[in-house]
Amino acid sequence: VTLYFGSDNMAGVSPPILQALAAANAGEAMSYGGDDWTARLTTRLSELFEREVAVFPLATGTAANSLSLAAISPPYGGIYCHPEAHINMDECGGPEFYTGGAKLVLIEGKGAKIDAGRLAGVLANAGKGVPHHVKPAAVSLTQATEAGTVYSLNELRQLAEIARTHGLPVHMDGSRFANALVSLNCTPAAMTWRAGVDILSFGATKNGALAAEAIIVFDPAKAATLHYLRKRAGHLFSKQRYLATQLLAYLEDELWLRNARHANAMAARLAEGLGNLPGVRLNDPVQANELFVDLPEAVVAGMAAKGFEFYRWGAPTQGTHRMVTAWNTDPATVDKVLAAARESAMVSVR
Ligand SMILES: Cc1ncc(COP(=O)(O)O)c(C=O)c1O
Repeated sequence: VTLYFGSDNMAGVSPPILQALAAANAGEAMSYGGDDWTARLTTRLSELFEREVAVFPLATGTAANSLSLAAISPPYGGIYCHPEAHINMDECGGPEFYTGGAKLVLIEGKGAKIDAGRLAGVLANAGKGVPHHVKPAAVSLTQATEAGTVYSLNELRQLAEIARTHGLPVHMDGSRFANALVSLNCTPAAMTWRAGVDILSFGATKNGALAAEAIIVFDPAKAATLHYLRKRAGHLFSKQRYLATQLLAYLEDELWLRNARHANAMAARLAEGLGNLPGVRLNDPVQANELFVDLPEAVVAGMAAKGFEFYRWGAPTQGTHRMVTAWNTDPATVDKVLAAARESAMVSVR
């Protein structure tokens, strides 16, 4: 059985990134980040973000998130995030482990976005300075979110302002950073430090890299501990040129933006086609490359009979399915799935 739109991690590697890996393979290069590719990447990302940044390439989003949080939270810290946040749901306690025991404090909100009023309320009553409670340490938000929504710039600014009022740095899980960026059609600077973000997990793997992410610190003076944290976590690659070259190729000729635009467009096409069918309900607005959609069981069965199966999400009785598009999603496949869904939906209402 083929799982349709299972995950953007199921997609392969963008050809220019594979070519860049082959090109970087010539000759010797300094190890542990002393290579030219890493130096060029830091320059390139500093240009892109319109300020000098510190860059720490690594290979997984979980490491990027966990180590970012370890850099900004003490072991007795409280990290404020949405219950659906990847750091809470899907990292096997990595953030808690790497911070040495920080506590994730969950703040609800619609569409997997932290609700500003709730965050302000919880922080105001956090019992700061009382050693019976964790010390508020950081706010972590995901852009694009785990529900396929995107924080607007105003929403980001508002949350960051609340964090700033309480002296907390803001971390952004940008595992789908490019998808959010093209959705908002703004600059990388606007969506990060200009809105009040201090540290970013910059994702590339889901959007066409082989395995490459980077922690980006917007105030390089605050990045010193990350050298140690990354090394002791086993994420300082000896042959770091192969991470850096992936990220350079990712940014070259706007590959990252083109890939993300395509993935988002495919999700929009799916959402439009499915949204009109009887009994089908989109859980949230589709603003990036993920859909969470309730499908009637008769439609699920009808689609499965035609060979189309999707990833079930949440409680099995709920009928929610997750569909994720990627940089290489074929529009013809989207249309084939939509045609099958229409047919199954029609049969089920007859
Ligand atoms: C929102 C989010 N953050 C981070 C990650 C990073 O995960 P990984 O450690 O698998 O690269 C993912 C991957 O599914 C994700 O969806």
